[in-house]
Amino acid sequence: MIKLDLSHAKLDEKMSDYQSAVSEAHNWLHEKSGKGNDYVGWVKWPYEYDQDEVKRIKETADRLKDKCDVLLVCGIGGSYLGARAAIEMVNGLYPNKRPEVIFIGNTFSASYLYQILEYVKDKELCLNVISKSGTTTETSVSFRIFKELMEEKYGDKAKERIIATTDKAKGTLKALADKEGYETFVIPDDIGGRYSVFTAVGLLALAFVGIDPLEVLRGSKDAYDEYNTDDLSKNTAYQYAVARRMMDNKGYAAEMFVTYEMQLTSVAEWWKQLFGESEGKEGKGLLPTSACFSTDLHSLGQFIQEGRKCLYETIFWVDKMEHDLKFPKAKENFDNMDYLVGKDLSWVNEMAMRGTLSAHEEDGNVPNIIISLEDNSAYAFGYMIYFFFKACGMSCYLLDINPFNQPGVEVYKKKMFKLLGKE
Ligand code: PA5
Repeated sequence: MIKLDLSHAKLDEKMSDYQSAVSEAHNWLHEKSGKGNDYVGWVKWPYEYDQDEVKRIKETADRLKDKCDVLLVCGIGGSYLGARAAIEMVNGLYPNKRPEVIFIGNTFSASYLYQILEYVKDKELCLNVISKSGTTTETSVSFRIFKELMEEKYGDKAKERIIATTDKAKGTLKALADKEGYETFVIPDDIGGRYSVFTAVGLLALAFVGIDPLEVLRGSKDAYDEYNTDDLSKNTAYQYAVARRMMDNKGYAAEMFVTYEMQLTSVAEWWKQLFGESEGKEGKGLLPTSACFSTDLHSLGQFIQEGRKCLYETIFWVDKMEHDLKFPKAKENFDNMDYLVGKDLSWVNEMAMRGTLSAHEEDGNVPNIIISLEDNSAYAFGYMIYFFFKACGMSCYLLDINPFNQPGVEVYKKKMFKLLGKE
C-alpha cells in the first residue's frame, strides 16, 4: 500500500547502524515505557477501538445527514486537521451532491466567521464541537457564536443537532454537554489531539460525508500489522523516521512535504502539525513545511532549485487518484499543445514529478525521499495515517523527545490571556 524510496535521498549513514536504537524505541511505543507513555493509546487502537462506539458514530452521522445540509465541525489542531485531510483526500475539494462539512473553531478571524455565518444561515445545520481539554479559546469563541445561531433557528431543538466530542469527565464543554443533554463522544484519555483521527474526533465528520469509518479503521489495522516489527530492514515507517534523523545529522533544517494534488494540501497541513508539534522541542527537530506542485513550482520552485540549501523534500505521491482526464484534440493546434493529445493528465502530472525530481536532485543538489500510496481511498487514508503516526513516534524517540506533549503552545496562550484580561 505504501512504498518508500530512499534512492534519491543522498543518505550517507548506514540504516543498520540505527537498528538497536529503533528496537529500543519500538518497545517504548508498544510497551508504553517511553517518554509520554500515557499517550500511546493510538498504537494499538486499530485492534482495540470500541466497535459499538463506531456503530453509534455511523448511526449519529445518518441521523444528522437526514436533517442537515451542513455539519459545522468546531475544533482546532488535532481536533480538526485529520478530518479535513480525510474529507479532501477521499472526496475531493468540490464534491457534488454530498452533504458539506465546514470547519470553524480554528481561528479568531471575524471575517472568516462572518462569511460562514452568512453562508450557512439559511441552511439546515448541525454542529460537532470537539475539544479534548474542553477549554480551547478559539473553539469556545466559535462555539458560542454558532450555538447562538442554532438556538435562534431551532429553539429547544438545537440540542438535538449539537454533538460534543470531549473528555469523559473534565472541562467546561463536558459540563455544558451534560447540562444541555447533547449527545457526546469521548476522546480517550491516552490519545492526544493529533493522534486522534481514528476516534470519534475524525470519524463522525467522515461518516457524515459518506466516508466509511470502518474502511479507514481497516486501513489502520493492516498498517498496524505491517509496521508492528522492530526489524528496520522490513519496517518502512521506521526507515522513514531514521532517514529524517540522517537528514538532521547532515545539517538540513527543514523537510518539505511535497504533494502533486490540490486535494492533498490538507494532508500536508495534518502532517505539518503531527511532526511540528511532536518533534519541535528543546531546540531540536526539523521544520515541517509543505508545497503543492506543480502549482508551487511557480513560487517556491526557484528557491528550492537555486536558493539556500537548508531543506530536503519528501514527495508524497498517490499512484492512482479516483479521477483522470484525457487531453482533448482541438479543431486547430492553436496553442501548439497537440503533442499531448490523447494523453492522460495523470501521466502529465507524473512526468512533471519525474522532471522536477531530476531537476531538484541532480541540478539543485536537493535530496528527495519518495513515499507513494496506492490510491486515495478511505482504506489508503487510514493506512497512510498510521504509517506517519508510527514514523513520527519513532522519529521523536530517536531524538530523545516526548512526541506526545506540546508545552510550547501554552506560551502564546498565557500572553494572549493577559492581553485579553482573562483571570
Ligand atoms: O495535537 C494536539 O494535542 C493539539 O493540537 C490539540 O488538538 C489542539 O490544541 C486542540 O486542543 P483541544 O482538543 O483540547 O481543544
